[in-house]
Amino acid sequence: MNAQTQALRANFPVRRMDFSFSETPKYWWDGQPFMSHFMNNLSSLFPYGEKFFVDSVRAVREQIRDPQLQKDVSAFIGQEAMHSKEHAAYNEYAEEHGIDLERLELRIKHLLGAISKVTTKKHDLAITCALEHFTATMAERLLRREDLSTQMKSPKMYKLWMWHAIEENEHKAVAYDVYQQVYGGYFTRTAVMLLTTVIFLGVIGGFQIHLLRKDGQLFNWGSWKHGLVTLFGLRNGYFTQLVRPWLDYFRPGFHPLDHDTRALEKHWKEQLDFAG
Ligand SMILES: [Fe+2]
Ligand SMILES: [Fe+2]
Repeated sequence: MNAQTQALRANFPVRRMDFSFSETPKYWWDGQPFMSHFMNNLSSLFPYGEKFFVDSVRAVREQIRDPQLQKDVSAFIGQEAMHSKEHAAYNEYAEEHGIDLERLELRIKHLLGAISKVTTKKHDLAITCALEHFTATMAERLLRREDLSTQMKSPKMYKLWMWHAIEENEHKAVAYDVYQQVYGGYFTRTAVMLLTTVIFLGVIGGFQIHLLRKDGQLFNWGSWKHGLVTLFGLRNGYFTQLVRPWLDYFRPGFHPLDHDTRALEKHWKEQLDFAG
């Protein structure tokens, strides 16, 4: 590493966090089983999902020539490693309420292991780019929709999810830039997004049913109604509003920073008293 590279700094920091999730109410999302389990569902994807992201970027790291991108890759790995760690700690809450998230995490581990057996490094990195687009756009929605985030009635959960949401936007271009520098091209990036979307939605749909069934909430129609309106409502549904940014990924010349969230990140870093 030359002196010029050493002098460079990553575009975003790695924040050391150490959350404790004990004594969190079971239905911490506004007393709603469906939405609380939806967030538990997402949390169960992160410990091994984010490890997959890091591994796929690390696998091609030696081919990155841009010193600034090398610095950002280091910070990306630091942020994702910290997310994995804190979402693993989330199990403290789950265990207290008899929710078996570890089992779901292991399913993700096995699924990603099976996928990696039939994919190349390029495919794995394209999967990471696709899922990073999901995490960034889902996180952006959460940061913009205070009507949703204020439904998180646990301060610990609120801080965890908003911290994660800020950082997903800070580093949303890193895997994408690595992919463009090392491979580039349109077809694989977009074909992998289509396949990844099908698998991603299938997994969270299956996990949601599993979590509700294990908790005896599968036939709680009131909670289903609240959850489905929150996620798929025609105008304000959380997923409904993700359709447009998802489609944007298929535009030739798309770049994650086309969705400028710097002012939003700044606002939330001030709100939560975060550095950087
Ligand atoms: Fe993350
Ligand atoms: Fe990420």
